[in-house]
Formats: sequence, structure tokens, C-alpha cells
Amino acid sequence: MWNDLAICPGSFDPVTMGHLDIIERTAVTFSRTVVAVLENPAKAPLFAAEERCELLRRATTHLEHIEIKHFDGLLVEFARAQGARIIVRGLRALSDFEAEFQMALTNKHLAPEIETIFMVTRPEFSFLSSSMVKELARFGGNVKGLVLPAVEEALWAKLQR
Ligand code: PNS
Repeated sequence: MWNDLAICPGSFDPVTMGHLDIIERTAVTFSRTVVAVLENPAKAPLFAAEERCELLRRATTHLEHIEIKHFDGLLVEFARAQGARIIVRGLRALSDFEAEFQMALTNKHLAPEIETIFMVTRPEFSFLSSSMVKELARFGGNVKGLVLPAVEEALWAKLQR
């Protein structure tokens, strides 16, 4: 295990099994993990930040040395405030690469002391995204196995209103 703090950033709207795979693997690779719930200006969230944090907290109770925090600002500012120099992002497919590359280089430009590390998702989650889960839920599709039961319940509750 690396004796360092890693930040797992994302919008987590809501957390999926794919996110959880990356978070779990980060938590057993680094001595401390902070999951950063951030705002993605390109997306209008379905869940409020506090709801996204709560679902993440419930999904990570089995993990040690992990905290869930919300920050409404730049990822690198958050990482600096935490004293972190490692950002871990999951890579699903080649289609993720361009946006991730741009994000990593922008963050490197802003904060040269911070490294972005990419973790490749397990193949069974390579098709999975929060957007796809929300689309399925909106149209009554089955999301079992793609998100935890608590997230499934939260989706139905949110979409029935
Ligand atoms: O789960 P997502 O939506 O792919 O995560 C993207 C996220 C939230 C990590 C990204 O949009 C982000 O870092 N937002 C905070 C604002 C910021 O730092 N933007 C500059 C990064 S290029």
C-alpha cells in the first residue's frame, strides 16, 4: 500500500458500481482516500450534492481510511486544500481518453505538483455511466447490478416526484 493521500473526484450523480470499483481499488492502494464530490459544469445534476455524498457514504461503509467531501470549485484547489498530490480517475474506454487527457493536462497546468493517475475499470463496468443509469431509471429500465440497492431506491424516489 502506498503511504499517500489520493483524491477520487467525480460528480457521482449517482454513484455506480463502476465508480465503486475505482473507489475500492483506490482505498486499498493508498493509505488515505478522499472522494471529492464536485460540480461538472457540463452536467445539470439530478441529485443535490449532499444527497450524492450521502449515497457515497452508505456505499463505502466497508472501506477504511476514506472520507467523502463536497467542494464547489476547482479540483486542484480542493486537492491542495487537502494536502493531496494524487488524483485518481477511472478510464472506461478509448472514448473517455480525450476528455480525461484534456482534464489531466489542464489540472497539470494549474497545479504542476499534482499527478493524475488513471485506473482502468473492470471490463464488466466499461459500458456503465451515471447518465446511462439515469436514462434507464427515467424510462423504467432495470438498473439492478449497475448501482447499489440504496441508489436504486433513491433514483425511484427522485424520479417519481
Ligand atoms: O464524474 P465526472 O462528471 O466525469 O467528473 C468530472 C469532474 C467533476 C471531476 C470535473 O468536472 C471537475 O473537476 N470539476 C470541478 C471543476 C474543475 O476543476 N474543472 C477543471 C478541470 S479540467
